[in-house]
Formats: sequence, C-alpha cells, structure tokens
Amino acid sequence: MGIGNRLPDEALSTPSTDEPKAEKPKKEQPNVNFVPEEPKYELGDIILPQGVRDDILDVADYARNSKIVFEQWGLGKTHKYSKRMGINLYGPPGTGKTMAAHAIAKYLGRKILAVSYADIESKYVGETPKNIRKAFEVAKETGSILFFDEADAILSRRVTNMSNATDVSVNQTRSVLLMILNDHEDFIIFATNFIENFDPAFMRRIAKHIKFSLPDEECRRTLWKMYIPEEMPNNIDIAALASKYEGLSGSDISTAVLMAAFKAVRNGASCVDQSYIEDATASILASKEDNAARTGVTTKRVVSEEYARSQMQREI
Ligand SMILES: Nc1ncnc2c1ncn2[C@@H]1O[C@H](COP(=O)(O)OP(=O)(O)O)[C@@H](O)[C@H]1O
Ligand SMILES: [Mg+2]
Repeated sequence: MGIGNRLPDEALSTPSTDEPKAEKPKKEQPNVNFVPEEPKYELGDIILPQGVRDDILDVADYARNSKIVFEQWGLGKTHKYSKRMGINLYGPPGTGKTMAAHAIAKYLGRKILAVSYADIESKYVGETPKNIRKAFEVAKETGSILFFDEADAILSRRVTNMSNATDVSVNQTRSVLLMILNDHEDFIIFATNFIENFDPAFMRRIAKHIKFSLPDEECRRTLWKMYIPEEMPNNIDIAALASKYEGLSGSDISTAVLMAAFKAVRNGASCVDQSYIEDATASILASKEDNAARTGVTTKRVVSEEYARSQMQREI
C-alpha cells in the first residue's frame, strides 16, 4: 500500500552494541517520511454485505458530523469521554479492510496516511516511539486520516509475564501509542487480521469495531463477475464457481482470475476455459490450507532481540 517510505538500507544496519557514551554524538536515524496519499478506492468498489456497508457509513457520518456536534454544539464539553473516534476493521486477510479504509477517507474528502508496523519499527534506540509520534504529527499537519494497518502488531494484549526483552519492548511501544491516542482528537482507522489479541485498554478507545467476513455465495458471485473483464474471452460459469468454492476472499478471487488468464495465454488457448479458473482456485485454496496448518494463529509479533534491547536502553 502507499505507506510512509521504508527505511533506507543504511538504517537497517546493526547499531553499535557498545554502551552509549554521553560525549559521543548519537548516530541519527535517517528520517522516516510519512506521505499522505489520495484514497485509492471508494465504497462502490467494495463488495460487502449490506450490514457491513451500513456500519461503515454510520461511522463515516459520525466522523463527518463530529465537528458540528462536539465543537459547534459544545458536546465536546458535556460529553468529553464519548468522543472516541477510532474504528477498527477486523477479519480475515483479503476481505477488503484496506480498501474500506481508503473508501472512508474518500467519503470524508480527506487524504489518507497509511502506516504499518514496518514503517515505524526501528532498530535505532528510542526511534520507534518517535516514529509513532511523527506519524500523528504529519497526519495533523496535513489534515489526513491516520490509518494503522496490521494494528495487531503493536496493539496486542499486554504481555504480563515478560519473559524476554522483546516482550518489554512491545509493551513500551504499545504504551506510547495508547498515550498518544488519548490526546488524538481526530478520526483514526485501524485494521487487523487478529482482533483476538487486542489489548482491552485499546479496545476501550475504539468507538466501533467492524467485522469483515469471507464473502458468502452471493458476494462471491458479484466478485467473480467484477474481476472477469468483459473483454476476456471465456466460457466461465460464474454461478457454478460461486457455489462450488467457499472460503475464498475477494483477493483470492481476483488472483484466481489473473492466474487463469496467464495460464491460458501461455498455453496458447484462445479463451479462458472453466478448467483454468477451477485449477487456479483449487490451488489457491490448497495453499491457504497449507499455510493455516503450518502457522496456526499468530499470537504475537516477534521482533528481534537486538531491536528490543536497543529500545529498552532509553526511557520513553
Ligand atoms: N470486498 C471486496 N470487494 C472487492 N474487492 C476485494 C474485496 N476484498 C478484497 N478485494 C480485492 O483484494 C485486494 C486486497 O484487499 P484488501 O483490502 O487489501 O484486503 P485486506 O486489507 O482485508 O487484507 C483488493 O485490492 C481487491 O482487489
Ligand atoms: Mg490490508
């Protein structure tokens, strides 16, 4: 996604493990640039059950009208603690959460500043909290909506039995984010594949959690239709595909069409036969099953010991 620029390679080199000496100037991390972008999608681009679409519109209207309600009409004073402006989009990968974040920003007529954990994680001492602060500052300065993708990486449940440096560090990073969130006045969007691990303190700060599910048969039919272009010669039976293959995300469906088209061209076929799309779909489903069996549910973002230790050298 269009996210803040990744760190240049130089920034990923191993920092010195020597004790920092006061007189020695600290090596500065090259600046991480957070760049807001124009939203790439609108609500009409996303195939969703009506209930989910209504929820998204509710939240977006809440954000749109909050200036009137809280600022002009003074409810900011009488309802100080009702002003929870975060939303969290959660559900399996490839179901349209990132698309929805863009669509909400578009609906609100604002740019989006998408930030993922990879953007803010730094091996440099104390830089991760700084990067988080910077993301919030840039969003404020540019009037863009902050979108924390893969939010589970930083907002997982507090590790109470801190067995190693990594656990301590993840806790620290999360504490900083929770603190900044307390003061953040603007609407903010989170997305995650793993809501189970979210910290309860974080859950309380979110006004609404919207669940994204794998598409049902009707939505799958619409998705197949949407991702098979009219110009592509084919004899695909969409209704049959939609009813036969469950467990596919919107992203899987889009990928299956692409794979089938390339396979057909490579084989010199003049049209994409049903068998091409069925093969592609079956192979996607098989690899998903494989993956699920191998990894199970990831419970915690693992960062390097070295990174964790370096973060701990400095008070937040
Ligand atoms: N509900 C959907 N409607 C239309 N296209 C979808 C949908 N979900 C996924 N896609 C397709 O899959 C891609 C990845 O979706 P994305 O929003 O990044 O999923 P997530 O953030 O939930 O992992 C999109 O760019 C789009 O091509
Ligand atoms: Mg996403």
